[in-house]
Amino acid sequence: MPANPYGHFDETAREYVITRPDTPTPWINYIGTGHYGGIISNTAGGYSFDRDPRNRRVTRYRYNAIPDDQPGRYVYLRDQETGEFWSPTWQPVKRDLDAYECRHGTAYTKISSELQGIGAELLYFVPPTPEDDLCPCELWVLRVRNVGDRPRHLRSFSYAEFSFLDAFIDQHNLDWGQHIVSSSFREGTISARTKFRPSVTFFSSNREPYGYNCDRELFVGRCRDLANPVVVEHGEPTNADSPRGNSIGSLCHDLTLEPGEECEIVFVLGVTDHPDAIPATVARYREPAQVESALARLVADWDEYLSQFTVSTPDPEMNAMLNVWNQVQCRTTLYWSRFVSAYETGLGRGMGTRDSGQDTLGTMHAAADHARRMLTKIWELQFADGHTWHQFYPLTGEGGPGLAEERPTWPQWFSDDHLWLVISVCAYLRETGDFSYLEQNVSYTDGGEGTIWDHMMRAIQFTLDNRGPNGLPRIGFSDWDDTHNIDHGSGKAESVFVGMQFCRALGDLEDLAAHLERSGDVERFRSLRTEMTETVNACAWDGDWYARSFDDEGKPIGISSEQVHRISLNPQTWSVIGEVAPADRAEKAMESVHAMLNSEFGIALLWPPYDGGDERVAGTTTFPPGAKENGGIFCHANTWAIVAAAMLGWGDRAFQYYRQILPLARSDADRFKVEPYVYCQNICGPTHPQFGLGRNAWLTGTASWTYVAGTQWILGIRPTYDGLRIAPVIPTSWSGFSARRVFRDVAYEITVTRAGKGNSVSLVIDGEPVEGDIVPLSSGKETVHVEVSLS
Ligand code: GLC
Repeated sequence: MPANPYGHFDETAREYVITRPDTPTPWINYIGTGHYGGIISNTAGGYSFDRDPRNRRVTRYRYNAIPDDQPGRYVYLRDQETGEFWSPTWQPVKRDLDAYECRHGTAYTKISSELQGIGAELLYFVPPTPEDDLCPCELWVLRVRNVGDRPRHLRSFSYAEFSFLDAFIDQHNLDWGQHIVSSSFREGTISARTKFRPSVTFFSSNREPYGYNCDRELFVGRCRDLANPVVVEHGEPTNADSPRGNSIGSLCHDLTLEPGEECEIVFVLGVTDHPDAIPATVARYREPAQVESALARLVADWDEYLSQFTVSTPDPEMNAMLNVWNQVQCRTTLYWSRFVSAYETGLGRGMGTRDSGQDTLGTMHAAADHARRMLTKIWELQFADGHTWHQFYPLTGEGGPGLAEERPTWPQWFSDDHLWLVISVCAYLRETGDFSYLEQNVSYTDGGEGTIWDHMMRAIQFTLDNRGPNGLPRIGFSDWDDTHNIDHGSGKAESVFVGMQFCRALGDLEDLAAHLERSGDVERFRSLRTEMTETVNACAWDGDWYARSFDDEGKPIGISSEQVHRISLNPQTWSVIGEVAPADRAEKAMESVHAMLNSEFGIALLWPPYDGGDERVAGTTTFPPGAKENGGIFCHANTWAIVAAAMLGWGDRAFQYYRQILPLARSDADRFKVEPYVYCQNICGPTHPQFGLGRNAWLTGTASWTYVAGTQWILGIRPTYDGLRIAPVIPTSWSGFSARRVFRDVAYEITVTRAGKGNSVSLVIDGEPVEGDIVPLSSGKETVHVEVSLS
């Protein structure tokens, strides 16, 4: 792997190891399994919440502040002889440490360091418990070791800064929020509460503390900050409860360590509406065996998750991503959509319909039940006319139109949301064969209910009912590109991309109907698809590529005669994915992408970018050239280029597009800046002065779609109703690869060997040659061996 000055991937431990605290941006990880949890950086910055970072926030985080990446889950250590103190996680004291290492693992993070003969390690994780756990919590396991040769007397001070549960109130109604929360220490536990609700945030430990602090101002002191809190500097806790103000959880412990001696303190932080349950929870984690078994269960859960699909290709970075971090990121996006990260504040966005719909695609193989629950939750946001709310808050279920609210006179619906759900339901059915799902009744958000099948039919109908003058789908507030806001209500603005997406959805429904032997439906879907395909080809082909859309006056956008935005990426990739383009057009469109949009760090979303605001397109033109949707490298859209290239049989190019955005393949951490182990949402494009800079890591549809692109289209292993298709489109230089894929409870051990330069497949299944590229469903077997020859 290319050297990275800040860290490396540890394949055996499956951890990303960060070897310096001063990474170019905070490099973060997630703890929790989608209910209670939070984010944590490589220097312990970050915060926690229970199920919903807006409505049930546990601790605070000051976004975009200086000093950055604070507060977090901190423990200060103080040498009682010298009065020196430091943070073993580097922040917030930021003293030079003799040794430092952060290991981000699967939903746990371990930070260890050494200073002047004291070794310390902090392990953070959330014990896996059921979703309805009355008293969810996280553990911070502190181990301090005297690695020197003389006895040491230390004092530790923990620091968790509590938020008002409603994180929005916490920031904007300071008077109320700070008057109503009080905190106190009883029997080893600090709790923060209000008078008017049962909710309690609690902080405790497994050892009798020497003292405690509940009040931030008393702990830090006037005109100081978290780098030099007065209590830590003086070494004496205040032991004062806090009747109001800013509550914190700070327990102070005395540690006397002989040379070679180690001690462990387990801190417990959580929130509950059942305060009676706190003592039992705290008591549980006073038992070392309970802490160990909680960690073991967490690790086992991830082992199980990651073991469903493993690959061994000639490319080590691809292996690391597909076997570990891409899957970790996919599961995290399934949990948190675009709601909470180092960039998304957990306040405004909630979970996205289109986002969460697509997030299921990368998790279907390992978490099909969760994907099904997520899809059902989103279908409940569908209106009887077929469109859906654009976003929702997981705890309250409250839906909303998202960004569209800012422009109340423009359409308040999005043209793509409901179609992603159709595509994802079909993916779910191909993966599981669970056709009973189609019969499940789910309510509509504005009343009534229908089966999942009915919901899908209404989705199709909504698109049919909302077509513009060319017969393409109206774009509504936007399609997949949130910023392409061209529909100002005339009814003329249309999306070529959604026309193509509609064809994909219809194609998937046609396959489903064929499998279910519903010939009438097959005919209907086919004729609708033919009609839309003809419409797209009649109005949107510009000679060398497809137009992007038609504006509010019905004029085309994304065509060669324009000054700006002459070509757009998505209609080219989706002309292939939607199987809309005839072969010659498909190849031409994708060659145009390569010639006009590609760069060493990925493919730009459009070219040339807008240079200044233009109400015709609104949102996109608010960005400077080369940023985000305005000609930046939008990684999510790059994944579709990988799929499209593979669908055209272009193995080398598909892999080139895959590698270009592969974060572990970047060797220029100081330029890229974001985490090298997960995909970021966007990279500044060639026309931007910071070309190559990554932004908005973790919560992006790139996660699911690169996983799909890598596993299903480059490696070519994809579920069908009849079995597992194996149709690799790999680089010509590869001699082959192997993979293990669990599909419908059978493990398929697959070995692919290149016998020639093409993509033709010959299969030998358990020693028997089989026609075609599908390994038929096998029941009664645990393992099936598949030999694939590519020529
Ligand atoms: C962001 C949004 C996503 C949208 C994309 C392109 O990632 O979360 O919904 O599709 O931007 O605008």
